[in-house]
Amino acid sequence: MTYIVNDNCVRCKYMDCVEVCPVDCFYEGENMLVIHPDECIDCGVCEPECPVDAIKPDTEPGLEKWLKINADYATKWPNITIKREPPSDAKEYEGVDGKFEKYFSPEPGEGD
Ligand code: SF4
Ligand code: F3S
Repeated sequence: MTYIVNDNCVRCKYMDCVEVCPVDCFYEGENMLVIHPDECIDCGVCEPECPVDAIKPDTEPGLEKWLKINADYATKWPNITIKREPPSDAKEYEGVDGKFEKYFSPEPGEGD
């Protein structure tokens, strides 16, 4: 199994998760992060750190789409291990429905 990031992260991108991951397996897109499924050791410590509940174990039902997105973009985006300032308008996007379809960017983030 692995943990994955879902679209609650899109445009919120709080990055609290990267500070606690013992194996540094988060990768940064322009407006969300993903987890590399082959690097995640399923420790679960990142899940409660996310203020918008964007991290889930892939054992929960219906997460196949997110597993694929995490696996795909983890190989395309740069690694991120240090939290930066979240987007200034992050609060406005908390809990908004359909964020992936409306706002997802395939472009890479800065990484570190
Ligand atoms: Fe990192 Fe553990 Fe979260 Fe996997 S479950 S991404 S290893 S903190
Ligand atoms: Fe995204 Fe939550 Fe991490 S919003 S960047 S998964 S702390």
